[in-house]
Amino acid sequence: MDVLVVGGTGEAGRATVVALVERGHTVRVLSRSGTTDVPGATGYRGDLTTGAGLHEAMAGVEAVVDTFNVTTQSYDVARKAFVGSTERLLAAEVEAGVKHHVLLSIVAIDGSSFPYYRAKVDQEQAVVAGPVPYTILRATQFHEFAGQLATQTKFGPFVVVPTIVTRPVAVSEVGEVLADVVEAPPAERAPDLFGPAVQKMPDMVRRTLQARGVRALVIPVPLPGKVGEMMRSGRMGGNGVGRRSHETFDEWVQGEPRRA
Ligand SMILES: NC(=O)c1ccc[n+]([C@@H]2O[C@H](COP(=O)([O-])OP(=O)(O)OC[C@H]3O[C@@H](n4cnc5c(N)ncnc54)[C@H](OP(=O)(O)O)[C@@H]3O)[C@@H](O)[C@H]2O)c1
Repeated sequence: MDVLVVGGTGEAGRATVVALVERGHTVRVLSRSGTTDVPGATGYRGDLTTGAGLHEAMAGVEAVVDTFNVTTQSYDVARKAFVGSTERLLAAEVEAGVKHHVLLSIVAIDGSSFPYYRAKVDQEQAVVAGPVPYTILRATQFHEFAGQLATQTKFGPFVVVPTIVTRPVAVSEVGEVLADVVEAPPAERAPDLFGPAVQKMPDMVRRTLQARGVRALVIPVPLPGKVGEMMRSGRMGGNGVGRRSHETFDEWVQGEPRRA
């Protein structure tokens, strides 16, 4: 099958590209850099904020997997990025005759007032209301998210980390499940994907940095209000209903020095 992975150079996107190529699919990768380091995949340059490059990348494609991301604390910026990109993708998919739109989203974001999560819910709704048959897969935080957070919240020797309690999942398994979704007919919602064990994000960040040999003081910050209560409650790890992944954070972090 010809598949386009949008954001296919990012954490989840690259894992999806690897899984799809291994299964013998013809895989295109769209990002602003236009590159891919996955042998057998083809990079396409495009920009979801303008729609540039989408038509060229989508010609002849059967399924599109959206793993685009934006890093912001602003609801307006996140909404514009997630909803705007989705609308541009879906319009291009209709023209190209794409049969399946696959979106990666996040477990337990309904009703959250956290700006990024609100914008992800808006993005899901744009997919549901859109013209292309779809499947939305919600996953919990990736093991790799600890490293992403550390990069964003390092101030000199300090890393400020919100107290999130979750059941993290290895991004390689997210890629495999997204490949399963691509190979199945559109299903609207796939079962939520969550990890095998509960972890606290500050511990995950501390251990990721240790494994990478980075010296830093991790400062856990319990966020205030309902958002903080939700993040500490463990509900971000899902309600135990769905698909449970296999690799624990403990197993994953042992391989981290090799990846870093
Ligand atoms: N991280 C987590 O723990 C987690 C958990 C559950 C769900 N999710 C969801 O999974 C999705 C992917 O997250 P991620 O952490 O894997 O993302 P990521 O590593 O930040 O990767 C983002 C990708 O989007 C591309 N991109 C960014 N701006 C673009 C633009 N204007 N036009 C085209 N491509 C653009 C990037 O490539 P270029 O910069 O080269 O353009 C990159 O390939 C997000 O929607 C996120 O909400 C994440």
